[in-house]
Amino acid sequence: MMRVLSGIQPTGRFHWGNYFGAIRQYIALQDEGDAYYFIANLHALTTVRDAQQLRQNGLDAALDLLALGLNPDRATLFLQSDVPEVSELCWILMSGASFGLLERCHAYKDKIARGLKPGVGLFTYPVLMAADILAYDSTVVPVGEDQVQHIEVTRDLASSFNHQFGETFVLPTARLVTAAAKVPGTDGQKMSKSYGNTLEIFADPKTQRKEIMRIQTDSRPMEQPKDPDTDHLYQLYSLFATESDRTAMSDRYRAGGFGYGDVKKGIAELSEKHFSDARARREELAGDPDHVYQILQDGASRARTKAREVLSRAQRACGLALR
Ligand code: ADP
Ligand code: TRP
Repeated sequence: MMRVLSGIQPTGRFHWGNYFGAIRQYIALQDEGDAYYFIANLHALTTVRDAQQLRQNGLDAALDLLALGLNPDRATLFLQSDVPEVSELCWILMSGASFGLLERCHAYKDKIARGLKPGVGLFTYPVLMAADILAYDSTVVPVGEDQVQHIEVTRDLASSFNHQFGETFVLPTARLVTAAAKVPGTDGQKMSKSYGNTLEIFADPKTQRKEIMRIQTDSRPMEQPKDPDTDHLYQLYSLFATESDRTAMSDRYRAGGFGYGDVKKGIAELSEKHFSDARARREELAGDPDHVYQILQDGASRARTKAREVLSRAQRACGLALR
């Protein structure tokens, strides 16, 4: 049976880019295989250095995922730090990882290129990710393009361990999940927390409507025909519109004589409708956090059973276990 696994960092509230580029596909995969999803708070600890914030982000991430359709009866949802076996496995993998392999990883390389001094956590981040994946004998790892290199590192670490100590780890494969196109943010660049241009999935509708009405546009006159395919407003509209609404809108772009305000109104209305059931579910879940903690605990206990088995296999293989 296919074991699907992925993690998402709780570094802030999830936005439309996260939903269309990752979360939606993760949720769809829960029906295809045995799915494990975790909130990568150990990874987030390298950047979120405020305890209350990290706690809040962890709970928010769980609420968002459950509200959006992650079904704890089908998928195992847990907090990364609730499975300490992963940290131990991380050390085992670290002792076999070469410096050069990690120096080639993008996140680290990019930081060095920008003249910044990365922390040790950022440097070893891909090894922790490898431990996350290998701890559950995962076969399929759905990730965005930015994470594909880390799956390669995981395969490298696993196969060199297997080579030295005998077959121990299952080699995973990456399943590239992509939005039809990168979701643009309010300034037209890729939507990302680091650019401060996000539209959050569960923002207050009134505030979000204002944010949408303020999305930057060019200043071409209304009458001028426009190309929908290069317009970020049209891309945002397309995330939520039906095929026929999309066609109608692109015809209006090409004909000219309409204002961007109409598209913005369309985005506000359709996005609010799109997430309204999830919003109601989220409110209900938020009213009973103990229920959510229980879901996470149940998930962790299932995950730990598997992780213990794999860790002990690795400990026996490399001689840490005396018997
Ligand atoms: P951020 O850039 O806001 O920090 P993350 O890097 O935590 O977001 O993103 C988690 C996942 O969400 C990524 O692996 C990627 O697949 C997806 N994602 C993020 N932003 C976008 C976007 N603008 N368009 C499509 N997918 C995105
Ligand atoms: N590094 C991933 C990200 O930033 C999150 C992550 C941590 C992950 N461990 C993982 C993803 C294991 C897939 C598998 O998006």
